[in-house]
Amino acid sequence: MSPLSIAGNEFGGATWQWFVIDATDSGNHIDNVLFRNNIGKHSSTGKNQTNPVTLRISGLSKTYPNGVRALDNLTLDIAHGMFGLLGPNGAGKSTLMRTLATLQSPDSGQIQFEDIDVIGNPGELRKVLGYLPQEFGVYPGMSAMDLLDYLAVLKGITSKRDRTEVISQVLEITNLQDVRHKYVHDFSGGMKQRFGIAQLLLNDPKLIIVDEPTAGLDPVERKRFLNLLRETARTRIIIFSTHIVDDIKDLCNDMAIMYGGRLLKKIEPAEAIIEIEGTIWTANISRKSVEELMQDHMVLSSNYNHDNSVNVRICAKSQPAANFSSAKPELEDVYFIALNNHGSA
Ligand SMILES: Nc1ncnc2c1ncn2[C@@H]1O[C@H](COP(=O)(O)OP(=O)(O)O)[C@@H](O)[C@H]1O
Ligand SMILES: [Mg+2]
Repeated sequence: MSPLSIAGNEFGGATWQWFVIDATDSGNHIDNVLFRNNIGKHSSTGKNQTNPVTLRISGLSKTYPNGVRALDNLTLDIAHGMFGLLGPNGAGKSTLMRTLATLQSPDSGQIQFEDIDVIGNPGELRKVLGYLPQEFGVYPGMSAMDLLDYLAVLKGITSKRDRTEVISQVLEITNLQDVRHKYVHDFSGGMKQRFGIAQLLLNDPKLIIVDEPTAGLDPVERKRFLNLLRETARTRIIIFSTHIVDDIKDLCNDMAIMYGGRLLKKIEPAEAIIEIEGTIWTANISRKSVEELMQDHMVLSSNYNHDNSVNVRICAKSQPAANFSSAKPELEDVYFIALNNHGSA
């Protein structure tokens, strides 16, 4: 399924005052773009006001015809801001996201976005949704400009002048101006991903769902992309899934760890790190002691050195032995501990 086809005809009457961003808060590229274009001045909320958007997922289950239970009674509340959905391959992230994006139905459960009953009324949700699937195709033989123009029409922006303005802004925000006349199907993975964001911004979505968006991006593009998401998240919900803990660090105000279709943990990243303070230990041990250590302790990582020694990192309530020293906890530890406690690491 192409993301572009889900734009569909149901996005009628979309308004498109971009990015509800405080225009006085210039200083980065995105704000500068918006400021220069006088965007955001109508709907600027300032930093102290929060938009009471919430997404409430309750008791969501889905078993595929092949018997795989991809969602297992999942309950999760998500407030505005940037929400990271972390989990290994097969955890059920894409299934959850497709369900939230109304592309597939759950067997049971409820989804409420603000006052929209999402399962009962998918068309209403689609009007305020921006979705970027894990893998997407694009129409061949169309330039970025032409494709955005086509999609903008589908999203209900009927005035040519409005479309031109909007398209120029999304191209600038996503750093694709220079390649706007090139075919999208010739874009690199990173450029395609940014195009994916450009197209989802066309209808000024309140809820943005991006599924493993950083996968094809080089480090520079990844940083820019994550900054772009951070800015747009100020007054919206952005849910993005990843199996890379680094994507979530410093970026998400809230996160959930998923495995086997279930929620293992929902916690703010900073709080999650505080929670495990004093329980992370490291040591340099011999290769042959590793197995023994694994029998009695939760080993979070083990890195082998050339001299046959191993740097191990473990989680334990108290110092396991005199040669272990206390280490500063990382978000990655939180992830591995959650998976370990579930018996899956
Ligand atoms: N259309 C499908 N038909 C059958 N099984 C599926 C389908 N989509 C996903 N699955 C299975 O459901 C589980 C969860 O998959 P998915 O939601 O893609 O997880 P993730 O995005 O976290 O990797 C996996 O075991 C996967 O093989
Ligand atoms: Mg996936």
